[in-house]
Amino acid sequence: MDHTAATFDVSKVRRDFPILAEQVNGKPLVYLDNAATTLKPNRVIEAIEHHYRHETANVHRGVHTLSERATAAYEGAREKIRRFLNAASREEILLTGGTTDSINLVAQCFGRAFIGAGDEILITEMEHHSNIVPWQMLCEEKKCVLKVVPFNEDGELDMDAYRALLGPKTKLVAAVYISNSLGTINPVREMIGAARAQGTPVLIDAAQAVSYAPIDVQDLDCDFLAFSGHKLFGPTGVGVLYGKKDLLNRMPPYRGGGDMIESVSFAKTTFNSLPYKFEAGTPNIADVIGLGAAIDYVAEIGLPNTHPHRQELLRYATAKLEEIPGVRIIGRAREKTSVISFVHPDVHAHDMGTLVDKQGVAIRTGHHCTQPVMDHFEISATSRASVSLYNTIEEMDILAEAVRKAIDIFH
Ligand code: ALA
Repeated sequence: MDHTAATFDVSKVRRDFPILAEQVNGKPLVYLDNAATTLKPNRVIEAIEHHYRHETANVHRGVHTLSERATAAYEGAREKIRRFLNAASREEILLTGGTTDSINLVAQCFGRAFIGAGDEILITEMEHHSNIVPWQMLCEEKKCVLKVVPFNEDGELDMDAYRALLGPKTKLVAAVYISNSLGTINPVREMIGAARAQGTPVLIDAAQAVSYAPIDVQDLDCDFLAFSGHKLFGPTGVGVLYGKKDLLNRMPPYRGGGDMIESVSFAKTTFNSLPYKFEAGTPNIADVIGLGAAIDYVAEIGLPNTHPHRQELLRYATAKLEEIPGVRIIGRAREKTSVISFVHPDVHAHDMGTLVDKQGVAIRTGHHCTQPVMDHFEISATSRASVSLYNTIEEMDILAEAVRKAIDIFH
């Protein structure tokens, strides 16, 4: 199927996702929880099934045919990921359990080796907990200091504060590309440029960005970039850490085990080369292969071809929700995508989520693992509808109607 922005056909795309035929509470599913996880196309489901049916074996360990098949498929997926990110080499693509695992790897391996007492790590106020807590744990251990760039009432980063906080003590900047609770698209290129000008490495959390924007790590010039397979129409439990080769080579591993060694003796163990040095134990083979299939899928569609449709969904749904008395949108950045967080004074987010589910509408409610964002707005939770390429304008109408009904029940 060939797509261009002009010919992008949402009804064709919907046929690729079998779960969209599901009924929920007697209604057609309206899936608006894409920031939590995206749905999976047939191609991904079939790739995983194919692996288990035809090539179940461990990788890098056998000379038998199935092991060779599994290794070729697994390493083939790594190459697809390399191309997808335009990384310079496959050694820079570490396969992990997901974004959280990738960030923890940087905190443990880079942090322990290169960050010491009094050093600073700079994050933003809109980080997911997975880009806060690993740094807090490191700060506790190393007596380093966590600095936080604030955002304004629209949910846009204060770039003057960023430049002011970025100083000689900053040993790492770790920032989210697209906020999961506000939808803000951060000026990561500018942030990376300012950090690189003073030689500070930058880690980008691309968990939400990866299914929205094509990412070229060489062009961005980030040092690390993390994402999860399941937010890119791939399986759960698998993700990626891109890292610049010279940095990865200088970082010690933190998880020991099979595959990450060159030789082991009780006198001395030496480590494998990249990327295996950071990949101890039997990996999540089937899901890495599934992620490879997801990358094939998005490459065929072409993420930029989906932008006009997705931005129209965002604009339309925001306008529809704003028409409803009492609804307040949280997050109004000029550069924004895919996420509509909202609150209502009379209906707690959890009640909203439960009531719209009765209409077949799946949204997420709560703090979205961004409690500091909730604190900023002095709220405990939002309702969050998050759209993806297979959502339709009609579904935005169903969402708005379901929200109206939920409010009516409380009145
Ligand atoms: N980080 C995911 C979300 O925003 C789970 O829902």
